[in-house]
This record gives sequence, C-alpha cells and structure tokens, in this order.
Amino acid sequence: MSKRISINPNLIELDYAVRGKIPQRAAEMEREGRSTIPCNIGNPQALGQKPITFYRQVLSLLEYPTFISRERTIKNQIQSETVPIETFSDTILDYADEFLGELKTGTGAYTESKGPLFIREAISNFIDKRDGADVTNGQLSNPDNIFLTNGASDAVRRILEILITDKNDGIMIPIPQYPLYSATIKRSGGTQINYYPDEDMDWLLNEEILEESFTEAEKFGINTKAIVVINPGNPTGSILDEDSINLVLDFAEKHNLAVIADEVYQDNLYGGSFTSFAAATGVRDILLFSLHSTSKGFHGECGHRGGYVEIRSNPEVTDDGLKLLDIFLKQASVSLCSNTIGQCLTYMMVNPLQNETEDSYKYETEKAAILNDLNTKAYMIKSAFKEMLGVECFGRTGAMYLFPRLNNIPAGKDDFDYCMELLEATGLCTVNGAGFGQKNGTHHLRIAFLPPKESLETVLPKWIQFNNQYISKS
Ligand SMILES: Cc1ncc(COP(=O)(O)O)c(C=O)c1O
Repeated sequence: MSKRISINPNLIELDYAVRGKIPQRAAEMEREGRSTIPCNIGNPQALGQKPITFYRQVLSLLEYPTFISRERTIKNQIQSETVPIETFSDTILDYADEFLGELKTGTGAYTESKGPLFIREAISNFIDKRDGADVTNGQLSNPDNIFLTNGASDAVRRILEILITDKNDGIMIPIPQYPLYSATIKRSGGTQINYYPDEDMDWLLNEEILEESFTEAEKFGINTKAIVVINPGNPTGSILDEDSINLVLDFAEKHNLAVIADEVYQDNLYGGSFTSFAAATGVRDILLFSLHSTSKGFHGECGHRGGYVEIRSNPEVTDDGLKLLDIFLKQASVSLCSNTIGQCLTYMMVNPLQNETEDSYKYETEKAAILNDLNTKAYMIKSAFKEMLGVECFGRTGAMYLFPRLNNIPAGKDDFDYCMELLEATGLCTVNGAGFGQKNGTHHLRIAFLPPKESLETVLPKWIQFNNQYISKS
C-alpha cells in the first residue's frame, strides 16, 4: 500500500475548469486520432496566431547578443558584395542594443525584484499616455509602484496572498469569472463573494448588484477586503462602460475595499472603447491594483509569462509604519525577480517601435491584422448563434470570448452535457458555463474565438445542426 501524506486541503479543493474534464476528453480524442478544435482557452499561438515579428526578432538578439554585431558585419559586407541575404534591420538591431545597454547584466542574470527601473519607467509612461494623464491633473503613474510579474496570474496570486489574512476575509468576484480568481482565493484560504453583472443589460453593473452581495457576505460574518473587476471580461467578453467603472470605485471607497482591475484584454476592443480603472480613479485615494499582461491583446505571448501590476495608494500595514509597498517588495524579493524574457516582452509591449520605419509599419500592420481577424471570427460565431435555437449572446464584444446563454437545454441535462456532446459531435472544445459560475438555473458555454477562419467555416454549420437537434429533445 502506498504511503499517505497530508497536504494543503485548499489545493485539493480548488477547481480550474478551463483545463478540466472537457479539454481532457478532447486530448483523449486526439490520442484516438480524432481532430478537435481547442476553443477552451485563450492561447492564441496554440491556434495558429503568428507572433509579432518585432517581438521575436528583438528577443532572439537579446538571448544571443553576439548576433547583433554579427548582423551588423554581415550587413556591411553584403552592401559591398550585393549578396541577397536577409538581415535584421538597423531599427531592430539598435532596439536590442539599447535594451541590453539599459539592462546591463543580460537576460541570464536576476534583475531588481520589482523589475529594472527603465522598464518600470516605460510602463509608467505607457499608462500616462494611455490615460491622458499629465502633471496638471495630478494622477501620474509612479514607476516605484510597479512590479513586473510572471503574467497576470502571478500578480493575482501575490495580491491575494497579501490581502487575505484568514477564512473570513472575502474577495468579491464577478460571476461568471475567470477561474484564476476562485482558485486563488481558495488557495489563499479566503472566502469568495459572488456578485452578478446583469447579463440582459450587457453584463453591466448597478449599485444594487454590488451592495446586495456585500450585505449578504456581512450577514455571514465575512469581512470584505477587495472587489475584482475583469474588463474587458473573461468569460463574457463584455466591455464595461464608464458608469459601471465609476460605480465600482464609489462602492470601493464607501466600504474601504481594494479594487483589483484585471485589464489584460485592454487591446481586445474591436471598436469599443476602454477606460482604465487608473484613469477613472484619478486622484481619489482608493487602493487599486491594475494588471496587464503580454499574453493577450494582439501580443499573444502566453508562454513567455510577461506582465505587471501597478499599485495606486500605499496604506500603512503595521503599527511601526510599514506600508503595503514594503510588503509587496519583500514578497517579490522572495522570488528574486520575474523572468527576464517576460520583462523584455513587457517592455516591448509598452514601448513599441515609434519612428516611422519599415519595421514600425510592419508592426502596425501585423497588429491590425490580428485584431481584424479576431473581430471577423467573433462576428462569424455571433452570426451562427442567430441560427441556433434558444441561444442568446449579450455584451459588447471584447477580449477573446463569447459566452452565449443556452436557454433550451433538455430536462435532466446541463451545460456540461451540452459541451461534452458538442465535442463528440463536432470536435469543438468549449467550456461549460458552470466552470466560470453562473446564475442558478441558467446554462452557458464559453468559446474562445481564436481558431482559424477555415476551421470555423467548417465547424459552425455542424454546431448549428447539433444545437438544433439537441434542443429538439427538450
Ligand atoms: C482575465 C484574465 N486574467 C488573467 C489571465 C492570466 O494571464 P497571464 O497569462 O498573464 O497569467 C487570463 C488568462 O486567460 C485572463 O483571462
């Protein structure tokens, strides 16, 4: 008999549907030789999205700097010999050179725990430019309040580890939510408090929605510490309007809550507009954690684990004057630093090629092509929903997901059964609504609109047929 050990029960209990039973069955089908279309996760390059050339050219040089001077030598030689060899442009070579000059110790050394100052300064400039902030409106971003992280997931783990002190500490999360939040709250030993954006009103918020969940938690002795907002949303793909954002800030101020603004999809708007929580907060003294990542947007560099958290406000945390940022720094120091390639990508995300060069045009063209493609694919899927009986989809489309409501699931079945049977019938791997949480009695699924258009053209008619037959059993 094998020995038994006791482990952290929080880890036994946590759930993460995005990699749960439906994708596991899809993997099994692949092993059986059947092809599937993985729409269960926002992992663009796994579905064929090409990386941005500028990012990859610079990264390759950063990892092997000798190639910068080698490329320069080859360029000089071929100019005189007219040999047709493709080389990196001076723009790319200079960018890599300057980056390494600032980094000083190369990509193989630990950096400052927060991340190098020049990267944090670039992030601050990016935030101020994005938000139209300047010295006159007194809401400038401060590089000292920025921490580079291994993706946004790492930032969430750090924040919740700091905020949650015991099981009665509550974190409000939107339902449906990205399960990173429920899982990390569980892992940190706190309590998840659900609030329910109004689906029929495009997933927007009102005061009652927030107050109701706060009061309910209070009745159970829960001390609410923070509210999470994901904008644009995952899994709903919705984009919040300014009223909803201001409402969250008023609510947080009234109840002295921290706001965790997950803004990793800020570039995935498809015509909609994005207001950052930092801009909306302005000079108000609200503890705000804003997250960004290189995984999403048009960047799609999920595997490289780049990202940052910007913290506004710095409350005291102990009687002897220690402040939140001191603890954040101490916590970051324990991991030494975030990975340097993720740091480089974060720098390129916030500081892309500016001058009007061939490379900057190429960057803009690739960026537009990726976002246009995503927009077209979202539209293709939304159009298919119109032909599916009992399927409704709400919200201004953002992020990389659609979260349709399945109104006519046959009695005795639920959205898990629907998704499993959809997978078997069509190869389309989605995640059922229950994996993200949903109002009792409703059914949904989440689909990432990432697969190539050709796959969608083939699978969408099959899905329409599947859906209409499936619900005829109800
Ligand atoms: C809303 C949201 N936040 C955070 C993450 C995690 O991103 P990262 O790859 O930066 O850890 C994801 C990933 O899908 C996400 O959808």
